[in-house]
Amino acid sequence: MKIITDIQQMQQLCLAARRQGQRISFVPTMGFLHEGHLSLLRAGRERGELLVLSIFVNPTQFGVGEDFESYPRDLSRDAAMAESVGVDLLFAPEARDMYPKGYASYVNVEGLTETLCGASRPGHFRGVTTVVAKLFGIVQPDVALFGRKDFQQLAVIQRMTQDLNLPVEVLGMPIIREADGLAMSSRNSYLSPAERRQALSLSEAIALACRMVAQGEADAGKILQAVRRRIETEPDAVIDYLKICHGRTLEEMAQVTVDSVILLAVKIGKTRLIDNQYLIEE
Ligand code: PAJ
Repeated sequence: MKIITDIQQMQQLCLAARRQGQRISFVPTMGFLHEGHLSLLRAGRERGELLVLSIFVNPTQFGVGEDFESYPRDLSRDAAMAESVGVDLLFAPEARDMYPKGYASYVNVEGLTETLCGASRPGHFRGVTTVVAKLFGIVQPDVALFGRKDFQQLAVIQRMTQDLNLPVEVLGMPIIREADGLAMSSRNSYLSPAERRQALSLSEAIALACRMVAQGEADAGKILQAVRRRIETEPDAVIDYLKICHGRTLEEMAQVTVDSVILLAVKIGKTRLIDNQYLIEE
């Protein structure tokens, strides 16, 4: 595995691989890798000859007062994990090279970015789409893999790729969870033991919603009320949003159908966690 920090060098290597007919699969991350990231890399390993991982804590997707500075970073640990799943190129650029002085170009997806996380974190998705578009330009992947853990992010990136005719296949992959159900996240490392126990309320609330649907409840309002009550039993949980939306348009739904996804963002103490699931599994 090669570790590359230079943007031009990375672009040249990827261009050369493509000219030789190699298929490039790409997993963009912000590092502090866990099984969720590794599952994307294993899936990427099967789908291309050259497996590229990027690790870049992207400043433009963090708002004022968010955790950009404190976001966990450990490149040597990440490199060992990346190597163990067969990454060929690890791209870890510097912020000053990705956004040099005078940097002026941003990508914005309208509509989809205005609800859910976009409403709570203004400018967040503009940062995500900008960096992903840049990374696609540098890595030139045939296929890029993203987790459904960040459900809205995946929808936004798929829309950007389609709207801008980017020649990349964007794949969404399943959420990887801890044994007790908590969705894996680099941010879980912020949780104290007491908060870690309360964080379980997200996946338990989703399980409750799925059970209600399985038992015939289709009224989104009633389901959300029960879910809200479950989360609010935790002393340090503050709901940011809790919605049942259409999986493609992200529009809110009053009645549950096969297209319905429950999406939630909850702050446990200072840590903001997200989770989601289709209410009816096919
Ligand atoms: P990051 O949070 O590091 O996540 C990188 C990728 O891993 C994303 O596609 C995310 O959905 C996926 N992922 C995270 N936790 C997961 C889990 N438990 N199961 C499955 N997949 C999981 O998302 C970002 O970084 C950034 O916004 C990025 C796209 C890299 C742009 O900066």
